[in-house]
Amino acid sequence: MQGSCPKVSIIGAGAVGATLAQRIFESNLADVVLVDILEKVACGKALDLMDGAPIMATERSILGTGDYAAVADSDIVVITAGLARKPGMSREDLISKNAAIVKDVSCQVKRYAPSSIVIVVTNPLDSMAYLVYKTTGFKREKVLGMAGVLDGSRFIALIADDLKVPRASITAMVLGSHGDTMVPVVSKTFVGGEPLTKLMAKDRIESIIKRTCNRGAEIVSCLGTGSAYYSPSAAVFSMVKAILRDTKEIMTVSAYLEGEFGLKDIYIGVPCRIGRAGIEEVLEIDLSDEESSAFHRSAQAIRQSIASHLLC
Ligand code: LAC
Repeated sequence: MQGSCPKVSIIGAGAVGATLAQRIFESNLADVVLVDILEKVACGKALDLMDGAPIMATERSILGTGDYAAVADSDIVVITAGLARKPGMSREDLISKNAAIVKDVSCQVKRYAPSSIVIVVTNPLDSMAYLVYKTTGFKREKVLGMAGVLDGSRFIALIADDLKVPRASITAMVLGSHGDTMVPVVSKTFVGGEPLTKLMAKDRIESIIKRTCNRGAEIVSCLGTGSAYYSPSAAVFSMVKAILRDTKEIMTVSAYLEGEFGLKDIYIGVPCRIGRAGIEEVLEIDLSDEESSAFHRSAQAIRQSIASHLLC
């Protein structure tokens, strides 16, 4: 039974990692391994989840450990390890410390789970996904970053709240970096099939875009310590599900580009078809001139971050 079940390993038993473990475990989606350098924390959280398994009616297994050997044969490894922002910090401020952690984790993943698909969550997201890709040497299909699903969900939630319409009636996407230069794409935002621009004044749209871009920082400032974890873990959960169930759905993920959108050798948020192979296709959608310029400015910000922190 155990052998035939998919296996997802989560590196980092902090709030995002542990909440993701809960979502995957309690939904019966896959067996879960939770790894942390704080081995006892990983063990304690795994034991706690296991104790609730009969109540939540899950037959999956869950293990907490400090030993990377346990990630062997994972279908997916999710990297959440690293520091979270403190109030007043940008995601970029985390780069030096998190790069050292993520590089080390990548070497362990390469060693113990060379056939896995890796989802990167650690910030600054696009630079960390680039680092994982370069360190593991995995094919680009197999290394993707979580961000656009979360940013798109925040954008949709805010629009729905403002217009008092069901969230399910809205389609939207947020491309570019998971940082201050992210690009909510208004030309691709529809409410019940109508373009958002027909239903909302420009200044209201601008204000919602600003709130979307700032939402992570707003939560960090409310929490005081730590950053968002319910919605980030929900976003990763949806990506894990799309991969394991081979749904082929279109999701915005941070992907390595090889000429798409006129960009090369960079990780950035773009719409992709997600299935059992990981990123099965990068979709080069049309953007307005303004959106395309914003997207390329965002790419420039990622490049600068990589050049000044990771390539020196
Ligand atoms: C946020 C973190 C995941 O946006 O970057 O809340």
